[in-house]
Amino acid sequence: MNTQINIESRQRTQAASSSLQVRGLSLRLDGRVVLRDVTLQLPATGITTLIGPSGAGKTSLLRCLNGLLEHWQGEVRIAGKDTRQWPGGWDALRRHVGLLGQKPCVFPLSIRANVVFGIQGFWRRRRAAARVEHYLRQAALWDEVAERLQQPAQRLSIGQQQRLCLARALAVKPRMLLLDEPTASLDPTSKHLIERSIGRLANELPVLWVTHDLEQARRLGGQVVFMCEGRIIEQGASEAFFRRPQRLESREFINWQVCDCGGPS
Ligand SMILES: Nc1ncnc2c1ncn2[C@@H]1O[C@H](COP(=O)(O)OP(=O)(O)OP(=O)(O)O)[C@@H](O)[C@H]1O
Ligand SMILES: [Mg+2]
Repeated sequence: MNTQINIESRQRTQAASSSLQVRGLSLRLDGRVVLRDVTLQLPATGITTLIGPSGAGKTSLLRCLNGLLEHWQGEVRIAGKDTRQWPGGWDALRRHVGLLGQKPCVFPLSIRANVVFGIQGFWRRRRAAARVEHYLRQAALWDEVAERLQQPAQRLSIGQQQRLCLARALAVKPRMLLLDEPTASLDPTSKHLIERSIGRLANELPVLWVTHDLEQARRLGGQVVFMCEGRIIEQGASEAFFRRPQRLESREFINWQVCDCGGPS
């Protein structure tokens, strides 16, 4: 009896301190099952790396979490609140949960204007404008653009645009960050800088990010979630996951980057 009470009380404490709780999340797009009964919990701070083969549903999951996709079944709670009942609606949720998309999407504006683009309100925008350097430094881009903040953002390389999008996401001061392959088009130096930045950010807020680079996933530590065919196959501490994965599918994926999970049943 006491054991049962202790377990329930521990679960309640974990839920309260966890930033994100997903229960039974399922999604269909064009009649196809894309996510199937996904259950996931993120701690209040720290890094969680989402890995899995192409088409596993990683991007779709991130898009459900910040409300870019709205027609899913199940439950998503952030800081204990049901995202369907989020005060201020989906737009407010999207400011709370920053999502850096897989493809960089810069606006036809200057580099500076792109950084402050998402900030609402004249005074808040002015205050943020004074901190453009800070956000660009956090995104490891400052040194490359300091002399040309007024130039069109579209003149930047794809890797630079990706980092500009990260700076823009940070300027809104999100309370949770979702990063979809943020280093995919970066050279090793920028990759390293972004990794350091992600590590620092994860000291303050939860970061859920996607990578196909397993070495990088291992390097960044934290938690790992392995997905295939819309399902979570295994999740756990990064070190243990890579050292001794519990599932055969995980072992195959770590060794060969292929998964034969059989798809949704
Ligand atoms: N808008 C859409 N309409 C129909 N199907 C979609 C849509 N978006 C994604 N899908 C399908 O959902 C599945 C999961 O796609 P998703 O982009 O989430 O995969 P992913 O794990 O992010 O892959 P990658 O590693 O290649 O980015 C794929 O089969 C994809 O074709
Ligand atoms: Mg993707």
